[in-house]
Amino acid sequence: MIIAVDGPAASGKGTIARALARHYGLPHLDTGLLYRAVAANVARLDLDGSIEADAIAACDFDDALLDDPILRSDAIGSLASVISAHPLVRASLLQRQRRFANQPGGAVLDGRDIGTVIAPEADAKLFIRATPNIRAKRRHAELRAAGSTISIDRVLADIRARDLRDSTRSTAPLVPAKDSALLDTSFLSIEASVQRAIAIVEARREMT
Ligand code: DC
Repeated sequence: MIIAVDGPAASGKGTIARALARHYGLPHLDTGLLYRAVAANVARLDLDGSIEADAIAACDFDDALLDDPILRSDAIGSLASVISAHPLVRASLLQRQRRFANQPGGAVLDGRDIGTVIAPEADAKLFIRATPNIRAKRRHAELRAAGSTISIDRVLADIRARDLRDSTRSTAPLVPAKDSALLDTSFLSIEASVQRAIAIVEARREMT
């Protein structure tokens, strides 16, 4: 069974995808980490992420980078959004994600284009949403807990800029797949969000 979980930054998609993977005993891939690793490489090599050739030069990263806490920072998240708009960057990460999705037994992947591009044949597709203000509040609390002094206004501005860039790029923009189930987590606890997500997957399994 392949489960695709898409949605904007801080919507809760990562938490939901991890919980679904645990529930169904499936491996999980946070595809945002791949784009974040390229962004971290761009920064490390002092390249310009807005230039496609520079971003391409950073695509060949060491897998150990995927565990680096630097990948979780807001600055790397924003740079990841910039480099992810380049079609050749997306192409260079495509096969790795497809292989993960199509491994025997199935998988859970979360990102922006899992249901539309990476695994259009997924058995269940969820598109996770929450209002920008609520996502900013969640992300702000997370960043504060990690020691950042960033203001909530700045986090909200970053989230809006990221939403705009991710949903208006020409290659694989952030849009719900036609056959995805929408799940708005704005007023749901984590536990309630996960229960709804499981219910959606169960309903999809019964349909097939
Ligand atoms: O999910 P995240 O915040 O870790 O993602 C960081 C950026 O990477 C996001 O703003 C856009 C890009 N991304 C993408 O374009 N496609 C994906 N499947 C996952 C992430």
